[in-house]
Amino acid sequence: MDGRETPPHPGRQLELVEFTCNGEPAAVAVPSHWTLLEMLRYGLGLTGTKQGCDKGDCGTCTIILDGQPALACLTLALSARGRFVQTVEGLGVGGQPHPLQAAFARLGAAQCGFCTPGMLMSASAHIEDAVVQGFAVTAESVSQALAGNLCRCTGYTKIVQAVVEAAKEIARDSRAVDEAGMGSLADSDLSAAHQVGGRS
Ligand code: FES
Ligand code: FES
Repeated sequence: MDGRETPPHPGRQLELVEFTCNGEPAAVAVPSHWTLLEMLRYGLGLTGTKQGCDKGDCGTCTIILDGQPALACLTLALSARGRFVQTVEGLGVGGQPHPLQAAFARLGAAQCGFCTPGMLMSASAHIEDAVVQGFAVTAESVSQALAGNLCRCTGYTKIVQAVVEAAKEIARDSRAVDEAGMGSLADSDLSAAHQVGGRS
C-alpha cells in the first residue's frame, strides 16, 4: 500500500511512516505534525475512518492500534511506525461484511452512518476481548465499551442490540467449529470469528 495524494506542504520536511494497515504493508510520507487520522484519510485515501470533533470527544475516528481501540485524531502519525493498524475497511473478510456490519444493516443501527465506523471498531475490539477472555457480551458490557462513541441520530438501543446479536453469532460460529474438531485458528470460519478487530 503506497501513500498517495499527500497534500503539498511547502517548506515542511516529510517523514516516512512504515506500518501495517489492514494486514498490508503501508508506507506514507507525512508532515511530522500529522495525526494518524490525517495519514489514513489523506495519505492512504482510507476515508472510512471519519473526522468528527478532531479532539477526542466523539469517537468516530476509532481504529484498532496493536489490538486496542485508539482515537486516530489524538494519535500522531509518526507513532504508528512499525505498528499494526486496522480500519473499518479491513473489518470484513474476503469481501464479505463482518457479522457486526451485517447486524447493523439488519437492525437499522446506522442512519447517517457518520458514527458507524467508530462504533464498529470499538464493538469489534469488545467482542474480541470477550472471545479471548471468555466473558459474555451483554447490553451492559456493550454500553460501557461504546461509551466513548457518540451518535447524534439513532439513539443507542439498536446499536447495542446489533453488537450483542453479532457477538452471539460469532460465538455460535466459534463453538460450531470447535465441536467439529477444527479448532485450528487457521480454519477460515474460526479465523473470521477471531479476526474481529483484526487481531488474529
Ligand atoms: S474525531 Fe477523533 S474523537 Fe472525534
Ligand atoms: S448514525 Fe448518524 S451519527 Fe450515528
